[in-house]
Amino acid sequence: MARTTTLHPVRPIAALLLCAGLLTGAAHAQTVVAPAAPAATTAPEAATAPAATAPSQVRKANIVIVGTGGTIAGAGASAINTAAYQSAVVPVDKIIASVPEISKVANVKGEQIFQIGSESFNNERLLKLGKRVSELLKQPDVDGVVITHGTDTIEETAYFLNLTLKSDKPVVVVGSMRPGTALGADGALNLYDAVLVASSPESKGKGTLVVLNDEIHTGRDVTKSNTFKTETFRSPFGPLGYVVEGRTLYYRLPARPHTTATEWDIDRIDRLPEVAIVYAYGNANPGSVDAAVRNGAKAIVYAGTGNGSVGEYMVEPLKAARAKGVQIVRASRTGSGVVIRNGEQPDDKYDWVVVDDQLPQKARILTALALTKTNDTRELQKILWKY
Ligand code: DGL
Repeated sequence: MARTTTLHPVRPIAALLLCAGLLTGAAHAQTVVAPAAPAATTAPEAATAPAATAPSQVRKANIVIVGTGGTIAGAGASAINTAAYQSAVVPVDKIIASVPEISKVANVKGEQIFQIGSESFNNERLLKLGKRVSELLKQPDVDGVVITHGTDTIEETAYFLNLTLKSDKPVVVVGSMRPGTALGADGALNLYDAVLVASSPESKGKGTLVVLNDEIHTGRDVTKSNTFKTETFRSPFGPLGYVVEGRTLYYRLPARPHTTATEWDIDRIDRLPEVAIVYAYGNANPGSVDAAVRNGAKAIVYAGTGNGSVGEYMVEPLKAARAKGVQIVRASRTGSGVVIRNGEQPDDKYDWVVVDDQLPQKARILTALALTKTNDTRELQKILWKY
């Protein structure tokens, strides 16, 4: 496997692309071994490498990097294409090979499960990814998993895994905002940081994490907030920690149950019910509710204005949908804050439920999971408040 000794994050990927003509075709379901890395930490460079959090760590962690595509696997026509480029073209083994520093902190193995933009994730792909990660976590010789992922829907995948994986081994989802060919590419450092976090014993039991831009976020809270800036990921209550110069620094813990403490096991979920999101706006078309019902929605997350407000012309369609057995989940399009039950609408009277602070796209994930367990409105409400 080609290795590079340069520390520059941009050139290796560009060079690899040019040499190997990698801009065509997607690799599927192949497992590749990363740059040969010795199992022991006695190599001279290990002594001078930054400690991966715990100085007492006696061996390098074994980390599997599962590639799904996204900008971290992207390539642009020129180095100034920081925001216009083709995503999901560079195979995961080539991404790993472009960051040789990784082999100093962990033994890594790459595995390509998809090569897609994350906007193309659907329930089937989510389940396939989750089941594969679950399999890997069960292997005694795997200490943690890193998933390379497009940033658009990283927050949905991370929340889903956070709720369904039954392991306390670290799982870190990572992406980048700029392709490896761009000036100021962020993927190399993000990937290095993600491997560090996945290798850190301190990351055990913290649920599925998202690492980008020097920050560690919980999959529950994190959301993408800007279309092009590297500083796009935010959690309303702040990140859990930082990754700084090879050190994993935690400052807070996830408050809500996750992974081993939830009622879902990815190994036992074979399909997810259809949950639609209907977005509120002035002059919204009431027919969008009926369309969701006709398309088989078992629940509608209503991304209302403000505190989950529902325009007067949308109330009847939503009530009619509920009368047909479709659950109505009031959420907010504002981007943060809790939705108050019986606040803007009489939820008790209409038999509707509200989110806690979950954004509509996260509420969709949680509602779909909840519906695998119950269709009782009170139980659904409890679940939305719990996770
Ligand atoms: N289409 C986007 C995706 O895969 C690329 C954006 C990104 O990864 O930053 O989510």
